[in-house]
Amino acid sequence: MHVLAIETSCDETSAAVLRAADPGTRTKGTCPPANPLSRPQERGHVPEVHVPDPSPAPEILSNIVLSQDEIHAPYGGVVPELASRQHIKTITAVVGEALERAGTGLEAIDLYAVTQGPGLIGSLLVGLSFAKGLAYYHKKPLVGVDHLEAHLEACFLENPTIAYPVLGLLVSGGHTALYLMREALSYELLGRTRDDAAGEALDKIAKFLGLGYPGGPVIEKLGAGGDPKAFAFAVPRTKDRSLDFSFSGLKTAALKHIRESGVVKEGPRLADFLASFEEIVAKALVDHVRAAAERVQPRTLILCGGVARNTRLRARFQAFAREAGLDAHVPSPKLCTDNAAMVGAVALKKFARRPVVEPDLDLDAYARS
Ligand code: KG4
Ligand code: ZN
Repeated sequence: MHVLAIETSCDETSAAVLRAADPGTRTKGTCPPANPLSRPQERGHVPEVHVPDPSPAPEILSNIVLSQDEIHAPYGGVVPELASRQHIKTITAVVGEALERAGTGLEAIDLYAVTQGPGLIGSLLVGLSFAKGLAYYHKKPLVGVDHLEAHLEACFLENPTIAYPVLGLLVSGGHTALYLMREALSYELLGRTRDDAAGEALDKIAKFLGLGYPGGPVIEKLGAGGDPKAFAFAVPRTKDRSLDFSFSGLKTAALKHIRESGVVKEGPRLADFLASFEEIVAKALVDHVRAAAERVQPRTLILCGGVARNTRLRARFQAFAREAGLDAHVPSPKLCTDNAAMVGAVALKKFARRPVVEPDLDLDAYARS
């Protein structure tokens, strides 16, 4: 079956076409018994435990992402009204391009998927209305997808056999959170940021220094070659034993360093400062993963969201996983930042569990999770 997915939660207009095995034809051979361990056991006979075949990952036929960075860069952050207007201007072309690259037409689409939230409400409504229109006209089912679920799912798109329980760190421009997944599509929130998201802290510091938007990639580029130990930062900790994050203290400390040491754009200390700030953000994130892993004893670690593109964070995360003897997966960079393929992947799993025939035209967008 083919799914057409649409993502417009923030400042990227994205559409993807994915091809997956028909849910009805996925399982080969006999179905596993409801509870394999409840079968009577013969003396000396080791019962055969049936592990269901993991579904193969869907194939990404196209995944078009049109960034609005140039539009928001002069403002140092996303301007919601400009974002929704831009989605309206580009969505038809982006969906058309996704179909063309996939070599398919709308008549071949069996399922529509769209991000419902959280995100910018005006932007979400553009994608949602567009998807509803297509699903209604073509009389096909439409599945609403949570943006955070989609980021986590990006890891499974490339590694469908990841073993549960999974500890997932989601780091984006709007969210920083830790989840325990005991099985597919199940998420237990272990901790979240109490103030800024990690990406937001990077974006704000870049904005303050006049480096442009988005901040994460520019900090990574300009900080490359800098000394990550040049500026001392205290690792942020919350007073209780919770796994919540806080980045506002780090941001304040960064601003103090900037003022006291005269860090400026194109100045001699810029690279050292950016490398040090990036380093402390990565350390704070991985320290939380360590604390959570000790608590919940996962089999696998995953890292996702736009900030997961960061080389320093990826390296620190992988180093911790090796030290802890855990499997770790990080999506390839293009699947870390917002994209529609991850939305389609969640929709396929939801649809396989609960097939629907009619498009749900009552689906509504939500700004917060
Ligand atoms: O997941 P995403 O595309 O959008 C949200 O859902 O927010 O993440 C965007 C965030 C921005 O804060 C951006 O600065 C950050 O991801 N980002 C990076 C890198 N690339 C994007 N942060 C650090 N290093 C990068 N290479
Ligand atoms: Zn995102």
